[in-house]
Amino acid sequence: MNKNKWKIAVIGCGMIAKSAHIPAYQYYEKDFEVVAVCDKSIETAQEIAKAFGIGNYYNDAEAMLAEIHPNVVSVCVPNALHKQYVMLAMRYGAHVLCEKPLAMTLTDAKEMYDYANANGLYLIACQSWRFTPERFGAKRMIDRGELGKVYYAEISRIRRRGIPTWGNFHIKEHSGGGAFVDIGIHVLDAAVWLMGNPKPLSVRAHTFAVHTNEIGSPEGSGALSKNVEKSKHFKLEDMDVETFACGTVNFEGGFAMTFKVAWSANLKEENNIILSGECAGIDTEHAVVYRGGTEQSVLETVPQPYEGKEFYGHFYIIENLAKVLRGEAELLIKPEETLTVTKIIEAVYRSAEEEREVLISEL
Ligand SMILES: NC(=O)c1ccc[n+]([C@@H]2O[C@H](COP(=O)([O-])OP(=O)(O)OC[C@H]3O[C@@H](n4cnc5c(N)ncnc54)[C@H](O)[C@@H]3O)[C@@H](O)[C@H]2O)c1
Repeated sequence: MNKNKWKIAVIGCGMIAKSAHIPAYQYYEKDFEVVAVCDKSIETAQEIAKAFGIGNYYNDAEAMLAEIHPNVVSVCVPNALHKQYVMLAMRYGAHVLCEKPLAMTLTDAKEMYDYANANGLYLIACQSWRFTPERFGAKRMIDRGELGKVYYAEISRIRRRGIPTWGNFHIKEHSGGGAFVDIGIHVLDAAVWLMGNPKPLSVRAHTFAVHTNEIGSPEGSGALSKNVEKSKHFKLEDMDVETFACGTVNFEGGFAMTFKVAWSANLKEENNIILSGECAGIDTEHAVVYRGGTEQSVLETVPQPYEGKEFYGHFYIIENLAKVLRGEAELLIKPEETLTVTKIIEAVYRSAEEEREVLISEL
């Protein structure tokens, strides 16, 4: 082990660990060394350790933390286990990069950040889909004030047929929720970031579970990564989460956001954030800027430097982590933004369940 590198341990060796976290740490090898991996399946942990040339593997996270004392832990387990492993890793003194969603409730997210703050640790939610060329371009325009006051946003993440068939994303006990918290969270987070972390006041949401037998069409929906082994266990009848969510979030200062999110819907595929301001509007997915009655121009985008990397957002996050640990940069993904996202997630599910508008002050 090189003493000038930060020691990394990864908990959960599934799709996102091998597609994103481990490749990104290894890309920044002058800063990081992945020294250990852990999975509940020792065979999986061993397989990943071998594939990526990692020296240690475990099926007991606490034993790994006690023996390895990593500086940073990536938490890549199913959603329901995030808090448990985040807290465990922080108790062993590690900074944590936790997969999204950090938490399903504001109480849980606050507890994690309170512990991190009290112990001088960084806790970062892997909101990896802010960093697209179009969204960076939109951020520049917004920060330069070119849109004027933005009063409306429309966020959409629609897969026509893309229920995840690996893992346990379709079972609430493991995932906490369905399409909204799995993929909607990325456009929500990106919109919160673009808007400079506006304060949400209330949410009215609707969720639907419209099952279809035409699941997991990889080419059509882009839902499946090349690193996914199709689950032998996936059964549509086990699904107890939403496949579609829609609604409105009202923010302080006269700003409203509508959302629609689907794992499966008879709609056009979309992954978009549309913003309307007093001076200009942007359609980020199509890189178009609208001004005045007729003017339409191309959004100036910011090229991303990680050509060919499937989950390039994680490379931005891990590069930023190295700079933050060296004291050279601020966090790209700020705790207060993740707390805003968590508030909206909790309110979305509560609003849909209770069939009423939920005030954020109730959480
Ligand atoms: N940021 C993104 O773009 C993105 C994309 C996909 C998934 N994710 C998130 O990553 C997380 C994992 O998703 P995935 O697609 O890798 O799922 P996955 O099912 O492929 O992997 C999860 C891994 O965790 C292991 N695991 C389960 N319980 C465990 C335990 N108690 N202790 C140790 N290991 C355990 C499983 O054996 C499996 O190998 C989820 O929270 C998901 O939301 C993020």
